[in-house]
Amino acid sequence: MERTFLMVKPDGVQRGLIGEVITRFERRGFKMVASRFERLPDARVMEHYAEHVQKPFFPGLKAYITSGPCFLMVWEGKDIVKISRDMIGATNPAGAAPGTIRGDYALEIGMNVIHGSDSVETANREIAIHFKPEELVSYTRIDEQYLYE
Ligand code: RTP
Ligand code: MG
Repeated sequence: MERTFLMVKPDGVQRGLIGEVITRFERRGFKMVASRFERLPDARVMEHYAEHVQKPFFPGLKAYITSGPCFLMVWEGKDIVKISRDMIGATNPAGAAPGTIRGDYALEIGMNVIHGSDSVETANREIAIHFKPEELVSYTRIDEQYLYE
């Protein structure tokens, strides 16, 4: 089953949106398999955002993402990488569709509430950056027989 890395960013934590984010993924039928609440260490930010380190917006991004605690999660389910990106919405909340997390809860590109892996390959890379294999919990949710045909 496919897995992805999701993270409520410092603005989402400060605005009390952790529960709202979890609820949306739970109700869709996805399954949380790991989580951690922490302030990201600099080294892990550089690794996580390696593709953006040279970009002009990176200093602001780094300051923002380390400004407070984040809520890190690994979620599992069929096609979760694509579906979770659709649920999160466009990078810039100004253009994010209503009904998406960013379209419902954010206004600016630099404070867009949540991170989600953008491909299966990225998901595997990001899960490995933030979690040890033994921190991922395998279990069956009792409603799976009514989610998967
Ligand atoms: P994320 O990685 O956080 O889920 O967001 P994303 O895939 O939708 O967007 P990405 O291109 O990976 O950019 C990562 C984060 O950097 C900030 N950003 N700022 N000012 C800018 O032009 C700019 N571009 C990106 C955003 O906070 C974005 O979520
Ligand atoms: Mg991204």
